[in-house]
Amino acid sequence: MRWRPFGPSGPSWWELTVQALSSTDGGYDRLAPRFDATPFRTPDPIVRRALDGVERVPAAIDLCCGTGAALGVLAGNADRVVGIDRSAGMLEQARHRLPNAELLQGDALAPPPELEGAFDVATCFGAFGHIRPTDEPTFVAATHRLLRPGGRFVFATTDPSQGRFVGRAMARAFNGVMHVRNALWRPPFIMFYLTFELPRARALLQAAGFDVEADHPFEPPFDRLVRVVATKR
Ligand SMILES: C[S@@+](CC[C@H](N)C(=O)[O-])C[C@H]1O[C@@H](n2cnc3c(N)ncnc32)[C@H](O)[C@@H]1O
Repeated sequence: MRWRPFGPSGPSWWELTVQALSSTDGGYDRLAPRFDATPFRTPDPIVRRALDGVERVPAAIDLCCGTGAALGVLAGNADRVVGIDRSAGMLEQARHRLPNAELLQGDALAPPPELEGAFDVATCFGAFGHIRPTDEPTFVAATHRLLRPGGRFVFATTDPSQGRFVGRAMARAFNGVMHVRNALWRPPFIMFYLTFELPRARALLQAAGFDVEADHPFEPPFDRLVRVVATKR
């Protein structure tokens, strides 16, 4: 077994274990310096394809921006680029890479009221697993408030009808382990697969006042993902 499963710049098994046993925020603070060497960072082709066809806009925000996977692409699409994340460590890495982005430490479930109505585009990548299903309506409502009328929330998610049986079974097994971990160990680490999938995302977004379109612009190995563009009515 390799000591560092994601290569020499990535975290060791020990570091991953310590991360998983700390809180969600504490775990990301610890992982931050090595995060970009892990598969947890959203690959550039996913961000680029998701934003394909999104014309230049005055302002865009990336929710749960981490080390800035989407911020770099959004910088080519928007005059003002804002990233929000709860982890100070992740934001520190983003600040090194993207000195011109506005980076805020905060909760995507409760963004600052002064940002309401300020954005033409909102994005969120690789973070739905950290939002409890019970918090998803709050998350959708907060995103709706951030956008101007006609503004778009763009993201990639999974579609249960496209998933492979083995992959989904492994994801459910992982979720089971995390439920046990959180029952036995405090503070919890909120990280689950198969959340905010297309049918549920569509229903929540429509209920919150978005028109929802979904398509499949991604190339292998990401072609099972679905792009969602939700436009604020
Ligand atoms: C797997 S990383 C993804 C980072 C980046 N979006 C990417 O695609 O590479 C998840 C990020 O979501 C952040 N996060 C989780 N829950 C959050 C919340 N409620 N509000 C803001 N950030 C959150 C974590 O701190 C972490 O940086």
